[in-house]
Amino acid sequence: MQEKIRQISEEIERLVAESQEHVEELRIRYLSKKGLIPSLFADFRNVPPEQRKEIGQALNTLKQKANDKIAELKTGLEQGARVDSDETDMSRPAEEISIGSRHPISLVRNRIIGIFQNIGFNVSDGPEMEDDWHNFTALNFPPEHPARDMQDTFFIEKGKDYKDQVALRTHTSSVQVRVMENGKPPIRTLSPGRVFRNEAISARSHCIFHQVEGLYVDKGVSFADLKQTLYYFATEMFGEETKIRFRPSYFPFTEPSAEMDISCILCKGEGCNVCKYTGWLEIMGCGMVDPAVLDNCGIDPEIYSGFAFGMGIERVAMMLYSVRHIRYFFENDQRFLKQFTPAL
Ligand code: DAH
Repeated sequence: MQEKIRQISEEIERLVAESQEHVEELRIRYLSKKGLIPSLFADFRNVPPEQRKEIGQALNTLKQKANDKIAELKTGLEQGARVDSDETDMSRPAEEISIGSRHPISLVRNRIIGIFQNIGFNVSDGPEMEDDWHNFTALNFPPEHPARDMQDTFFIEKGKDYKDQVALRTHTSSVQVRVMENGKPPIRTLSPGRVFRNEAISARSHCIFHQVEGLYVDKGVSFADLKQTLYYFATEMFGEETKIRFRPSYFPFTEPSAEMDISCILCKGEGCNVCKYTGWLEIMGCGMVDPAVLDNCGIDPEIYSGFAFGMGIERVAMMLYSVRHIRYFFENDQRFLKQFTPAL
């Protein structure tokens, strides 16, 4: 008997109700004439006299507890209903909404796009999974040529020969090809996007990162146009006093090819640990579009010429915000992300 009383008492403590009907069901189960508690009272007859005092008290306490619990459930539901209806207290302070912030990579990408939009560039897009033609062949990477090793590739399908290969694009230069194939000069386009390389992660490189590719094709485009355009970009992006310089380089899809440096934005060219005491920061590859690439994409190189450039957004963001490791951009740690505001 005592064990039963203990069990029912514990059950009652745990009771919850979803509706007034539910409360009534519980009341019937425990307290109605044929309910659990009155039937214990009925059994009381059989309790030996020496235990009667103790068990009698326990039964009364149980009954009281059940009555209290049912009343508590009833009023709880009534109050809840009232809050839901017309008695909501409109003056209570609202819960704070945590507002997200833009990712630094998006901020820098939008800033780059804005600068080039001002001089008539549009934005174009291409797939992240790319075939061999658009990522390599049309861009003048010959089969088996070591140039393909410049960019360690994640292959999706190896195919029977290299022409059937499908891979995650290794650069956004693939979008150039698509734009030229589908359009006619004059072309002035910017292609931002994610790229993938099978590379070890270090402070400055990651296997996934972002690039912005630029392409300008028209009649009579020269290296002077390339220089002037990129000079305009560098001063808009990094400040009036920024200087630029070009170093000869090699890319299969441009001839001549160059790498562009800007004067160090931290020490203004004096020399510091960010620019490794050279006074210069490397920021992008560029060059005149190789006539063979124009030809591959259906544009007559006898009539048209163009320039192209490509830069890593993480690299630019690391310089602008003095971020020491590329990994921070991918960890999604709110303490890092919340520090960036649109005003660079
Ligand atoms: N695609 C090159 C890379 O991934 C960057 C690049 C260099 C793009 C020269 C260009 C260019 O358009 O002309 O490193």
